[in-house]
Amino acid sequence: MDVSQLYELLWGFAGPRVVTLAAKVGLLRALAQAPADAPELAAALKLDLPATGKIVRALCAQGLLAVEGDKFRLHPALRKHFLPGPDDLTPFVAHAQALADRWGAGLEDWLRSGAEKGSTRAGDKLAAFSQGMQAAAALLAHQVVEALDGLLGIERVLDLGGGTGGYARVFCSAQPRLQVTVLEVAEVATLGTDSLVGTELGQRIHFISGDYHHSEFPAGQDLVLLANVLHIEKAAQAQALVQRAAASLAPGGRLAVVDFIIDEHKRENLMGALFAINMRSRGDTYSEPELRAWLRAAGLAQLRRVDLPPAHWLILGQAPADPPDYSTSV
Ligand SMILES: C[S@@+](CC[C@H](N)C(=O)[O-])C[C@H]1O[C@@H](n2cnc3c(N)ncnc32)[C@H](O)[C@@H]1O
Repeated sequence: MDVSQLYELLWGFAGPRVVTLAAKVGLLRALAQAPADAPELAAALKLDLPATGKIVRALCAQGLLAVEGDKFRLHPALRKHFLPGPDDLTPFVAHAQALADRWGAGLEDWLRSGAEKGSTRAGDKLAAFSQGMQAAAALLAHQVVEALDGLLGIERVLDLGGGTGGYARVFCSAQPRLQVTVLEVAEVATLGTDSLVGTELGQRIHFISGDYHHSEFPAGQDLVLLANVLHIEKAAQAQALVQRAAASLAPGGRLAVVDFIIDEHKRENLMGALFAINMRSRGDTYSEPELRAWLRAAGLAQLRRVDLPPAHWLILGQAPADPPDYSTSV
């Protein structure tokens, strides 16, 4: 890295704030719907005109907007993510903003002491976090379905720490016979249950309140999912969770770990290395050799890695099939 790159890196805080603000005030949604110029946007969204012009031009410089004549339009690849519907990323953008607001606070204390001041979310903050997770899950869950051959033959799924059911919803829409049990902490389980009241999915996605370290898991699962859960645990607890999850599989059932990618030495993959800091001393980003070792120690075989952009991977393992029954042979 040279000093020009360092200079730009230090200004890296500014770009994301422009994006999250543009999402918050509705600029990105408006530009996903139709091309517009700054005066049209300022009038429609009741914003200051010169300020709107600067924000829109910075979004353009960052590559989010394309110029169409004298108007701007959200890049085609991003449009569905800012329109209402299952791909809407707006709650995740709000989550990213909330994370940025509190990310630096306490970082120096943590570096000096290894300790972190209380950071438990509850109430509105937990609801916003869960909505953000659900929106991000929509980016990855379809890729998990694809990696598992459309979930063919999978009917019983246990989603440990499955939030408000981001993966469960996508899995159910991919496979009509599938039922999902989502084990979550009480407050999130209630949010998930409430979000499905009166819907057809309410009959197929069952939230149970519990602690995945201690609660008994329903047995005989075709698939157990640990999505973005191992990184919130220390290594020993994460490995124990893999062990318990594997024990609830039916013969031939599969364990799916979805988490942030990081390289073996944890010093090349920037997103993975930064996410490890995000977890402070509570959790970590785990490497492929670590995850594979935990799955193997839990008795799983046929291990496989599939990359899930953005920034994630899927590590799969399979429980042994039923041993052949020789009791009736002569
Ligand atoms: C980072 S979120 C991931 C949510 C979802 N799996 C996803 O990938 O979108 C981690 C989830 O684990 C849940 N969780 C944390 N500790 C738990 C525990 N001890 N037992 C059950 N759920 C837990 C949290 O409530 C949260 O919803």
